[in-house]
Formats: sequence, C-alpha cells, structure tokens
Amino acid sequence: MVEKIKVYGGQVINGTIQISGAKNSALPLLAASILSDDGLSLKNVPPLSDIKTMLTLLNKLGIESNITKDNDFSISVNNKTDSINTFTAPYDIVKKMRASILVLGPLLARFGQCRVSLPGGCAIGVRPIDLHLKGLEALGADIELKDGYVCAQAKMGLKGGEFEFPIVTVTGTENLMMAATLANGYTVLKNVAKEPEIVDLANCLNKMGAKITGQGTSEIHIKGVTRLNNTTYTVLPDRIEAGTYAIAAGITRGNLDLIGGDFRSLLTCFITKMEEIGLVFEDIPNGIRVYSSGKINPCHIETKPFPGFPTDLQAQTMSLLCLATGESTVEENIWENRFMHVAELIRMGANISISGHKAIIKGVSSLIGAPVMATDLRASFSLVLAGLAAKGNTIVDRVYHLDRGYCCVEKKLANCGVKIDRI
Ligand code: EPU
Repeated sequence: MVEKIKVYGGQVINGTIQISGAKNSALPLLAASILSDDGLSLKNVPPLSDIKTMLTLLNKLGIESNITKDNDFSISVNNKTDSINTFTAPYDIVKKMRASILVLGPLLARFGQCRVSLPGGCAIGVRPIDLHLKGLEALGADIELKDGYVCAQAKMGLKGGEFEFPIVTVTGTENLMMAATLANGYTVLKNVAKEPEIVDLANCLNKMGAKITGQGTSEIHIKGVTRLNNTTYTVLPDRIEAGTYAIAAGITRGNLDLIGGDFRSLLTCFITKMEEIGLVFEDIPNGIRVYSSGKINPCHIETKPFPGFPTDLQAQTMSLLCLATGESTVEENIWENRFMHVAELIRMGANISISGHKAIIKGVSSLIGAPVMATDLRASFSLVLAGLAAKGNTIVDRVYHLDRGYCCVEKKLANCGVKIDRI
C-alpha cells in the first residue's frame, strides 16, 4: 500500500528546525568507505531511505555497517581488507537509486575491477553517465558495456591523468575524485562541480589520507596515494532541506530558526532570490532565522550548478511563486524534464504555462487543496508546501519519494505547529 500524506491547508509554520546531514554528501561519503583499508565512521548521517539503499548495496559487496542512533545517526563501516568479496552493483539496487553509480570509481580504484548496472532513466531526465566512464578511461580504465552493466577493469591499477568535463556533473566529479585518490600518479580534473558536497567529500578523503587540493574551485588536483585509512567525519548539513523549510516560512507567512550550519554561505544565491521575493533572513548562532515580510514578489529564477540557484530547490520555489503578486519565470537548465510538479500545481489552481525549459507563473491569490501525485523527491515537497498554503486539504500520493530525501517530516513540522498526516 503506497502511503499518502494529508496536508491541512491554511497553516502557519513557527518554531525551530534542526537541519539533518546532507543526503547528497552522505551518499558519496558512504561510497568512499570502499576506498579505505579499515572502514570509515560517519556522523550526522540522515536516516533516509536512500541511505538505507546505499547501505544495502555496500552490504552486497561485503561491507558491514553499524548504526548508532544519535543525531541523526552515526554509521561505522567495517571494511576489513578481505571483507569485500564481490565487485558487482546489481540492477535491482541501482534501479532504485541512481547514486549507486558512486561505487564505480571506488571499486575500480581499490580492486582494479567492477561491474555496475547502468542506472536507466528517471522522472527528471535521461541522466546519462557517459562522462563518468570517459573520465575513468582517461585514468586508464578499460570499459565495456555488457548486458546492461558497466564492466570496468584496470588490471595494473588506475593511472593519474587529466580530464576536462564538457559539462559540470556532481556525481561524475565525485566518482573521478574518489578513483584518482588511489591512482598511480597525479590527476588534474577540469571544469568540475563546485557544490559544497564535493568539498565535503574531498575534506573527508583528505582526512582518510588522500592528497586533494582545489575542491570548491573548477579545477581539482589529486596526488595518488597507496592506501586510505579509517577516520571519523561529520556530514555537512543539508542545504536543500534548509532551503525547503525556508520556503515553508515564506509560503505560510511564518517564522523559522533553521539550525545546523552556515546556511548563508551554503545558500547564497538562493537567499538573494528569496530576499527579492520578500523573505527576511537574520544570522543566529549555528543557523539562520527566516520569516516572511508579508509580501510574495514575482521573480526570475534560473537553475545553475553551484554557486548558482540549485535545481533541487526549483520545484519548491515554484510553489511559492504561484502566490506572487505578478508574473514570474523559472528556467530549468540542469534537467530536461523537471517540471512534473507543474501539472499538479495547476490542479491546485496555479496559473503556469511551460515553454521549453521555461515556466511562466502568473501569481494567483490562493491555491485550493486537491488530490495530487508526487513524481520525484523535490516535487513531492513542493506539493506539501502548496498544500500548507492552500484553502482546504491536499492529499499527496506516492510519498515514498519524500522519504528518500527528507527525514522526520511530520515530526519536524509538528514541532513548529504544523499538522500533516500519513494515511
Ligand atoms: N550528465 C551527462 N552525462 C554524465 C553526467 C551528467 O550528460 O555523465 C548531465 C545530466 O543528464 C544533467 C547534468 O549533466 O543534465 C547534471 O547532472 P549531474 O551529473 O550533476 O547530476 P547528478 O550528479 O546525477 C546530483 C544530485 C541531484 C542534483 C544534481 C544537480 C546526488 C546524489 N544527486 O545528481 O540531486 O539534482 O546533482 O545538482 O548528488 C536530488 O537530491 O533531488 C537530486 C536529484
């Protein structure tokens, strides 16, 4: 039975939310445990279904993990030298979560061989992995596609090399960076992603003994080392979760303290746009306060790689702009099909038209609750946000998408006086 969420309309959010560790940081960090000779301990890992999927995948490879439930949870990966006994990431796991592709670079770098299922399409776009493969070939890997699997080999180990990404890719940069840490020689990666999650991964790898510089800029340099060791590392806070709740404050005309990190520097471009729309941000210890000025001004948004406006906050922002006092435009430049929430918002009374990769949103005075369907992770929260501001109640179907990337949603909202029910 697929769970649904009932969102009661017309609520105002007020209170404090502890932001969890970043999903998109924790996933590559867990994959990086494959590179270590003696495991890895991570703190502040968000308890999400995507994290469970990654742990299941690591377990298939022979890596055990112990979870200690604290804030959110700590995971120690036990990875004795001889514990990894298979090098295959099977289709049944990869099809559930595309980030499974992150085991490709580490397996190849440490064991000189692996078989990883090709991920296939997804609701937000085609999502090819050609650049992951070309990059690994530049480090000396032999790659063959066979029976839906990437079969990669580097019998004598990977060699340092130079690779320039023709377009910026987040997990592509992460795969190559992880692979190059154990390659023989020096690697230069150009036109890499600069996302904070890339910096987090590089910092953890360096703590494990890697020699990486340039993370956070468009060029990363890696001096290969022969082994990486266990360390304890705390996952970066989730900027997308923080941004999503900031929009909740805007759309319900509420007031939130978002605790857990330096969100002003993690979300600079997003905050500038939200201020233009009418949200007010104030620095507080270990976080940021956000509240509504009462206005929702129209705005022009263009998604771009970091430090630009994040695509992972596009759907949620669109819900807010549905209630703006004028016409807004949202350009999606990362994913070719990330407007699936538009049809659902229209069912709630929004006035949106799409022209290519641009959505034109004419603000309406109110949204009306309706049964709607979540199509991907971020779209699902955009519908919850629209439901909170709507007149009447909204039922969001297929909420398993939400559980992939937002933890304890009901509890976090309830602490701030907002009621939603899982049915
Ligand atoms: N691309 C290629 N070839 C490749 C790799 C990417 O053409 O080999 C294209 C993609 O099709 C896309 C663009 O490059 O058009 C950027 O994709 P990217 O590789 O950066 O995306 P990703 O690494 O698969 C990560 C996040 C996504 C987030 C994007 C963009 C993780 C686990 N996922 O995906 O997060 O949208 O970067 O910032 O880090 C989410 O959390 O909801 C989510 C989808």
